[in-house]
Amino acid sequence: MIQTWLTNTFGLSVPVVSAPMAGVSGGALAAAVSAAGGLGMVGVAAASPDQLRAELDIAQASGKPYGVGLLAWLLPDNEELVDVAVESDAALISLSYGPYARYVERVQAAGKLVATQVGTIDDARAALAIGVDVLVARGGEGGGHGRNDVATLPLLQAVLDAVDVPVLAAGGIATGRGLAAVIAAGAAGGWVGTAFTVATEAANSKDAKQAVAAAGLADTTYTTVLDIGRGAAWPAEFGGRALNHPYAAKWHGREDELRANPEPIEQPVTWAGQAAGLVAKPRDAADIVKELATAETYLGAAAARTGK
Ligand SMILES: Cc1cc2nc3c(=O)[nH]c(=O)nc-3n(C[C@H](O)[C@H](O)[C@H](O)COP(=O)(O)O)c2cc1C
Repeated sequence: MIQTWLTNTFGLSVPVVSAPMAGVSGGALAAAVSAAGGLGMVGVAAASPDQLRAELDIAQASGKPYGVGLLAWLLPDNEELVDVAVESDAALISLSYGPYARYVERVQAAGKLVATQVGTIDDARAALAIGVDVLVARGGEGGGHGRNDVATLPLLQAVLDAVDVPVLAAGGIATGRGLAAVIAAGAAGGWVGTAFTVATEAANSKDAKQAVAAAGLADTTYTTVLDIGRGAAWPAEFGGRALNHPYAAKWHGREDELRANPEPIEQPVTWAGQAAGLVAKPRDAADIVKELATAETYLGAAAARTGK
């Protein structure tokens, strides 16, 4: 068994967090991941407090530790979500994408750990100054929203060198090989999104799962135009990575024109990262956790190659 800060802190058997993903990671996915030995996260956008409470109740049913991820830029209008998270049994609370500093003390005072996703070394330094407990070094190849400035591996190396708090790696991890690579580099675990979007227990549509499973490594686009088209008020520095989409092909690079003359999006958007190309078919979350757990084999093989 791989032992890291992550597994020791939350009593996990696999150093994996399933990423909070609004519309995908409800309580059922979080419970399934936690039951399989990882740390399952519930992710919401602008949910009602009752909706979040209901999902957290489902997550808690696994009887294992779980977490919750909130989108910081939405919290000024949805502050009750912080209260629900603080009052829950969630052990880890992610506050990502937007000004989150004012919520950190409240979460920590309730005995919970705070995570945030960082996309640059400046983000990492700011998080450290704010007192975040665990940083998620999240590279631009990741699915859904975030920065596109730096890829996972260079970001992870720089963040690990720059901070002395635990660091998880996110963006592009979908197999035991990928998890082994970031653990070998010094990460306390992987924060995995796209690979879990095809889980049987995930709340997204069957069509979305099939589309991710069918996609190749180069079949995603990072852009802000999908949000402009949806009328979603994401801060401009956080674009999103989704499966290639005719709307993105048409408007990417013409953002000002689109803002001046909005055109509705007709086909659904499937947020996913480059790891979509590593995911072959929809399957149970426990199988995905099991595949990630093969990291141990690769780490063992690497150790053997060093002759020690
Ligand atoms: C469908 C989808 C929805 C997401 N929603 C959220 C979210 O609600 N909150 C959040 O903090 N991150 C969200 N993310 C980003 C993930 O937390 C994480 O950064 C990303 O999935 C990691 O890269 P990977 O997809 O290559 O594993 C989402 C990602 C995906 C794929």
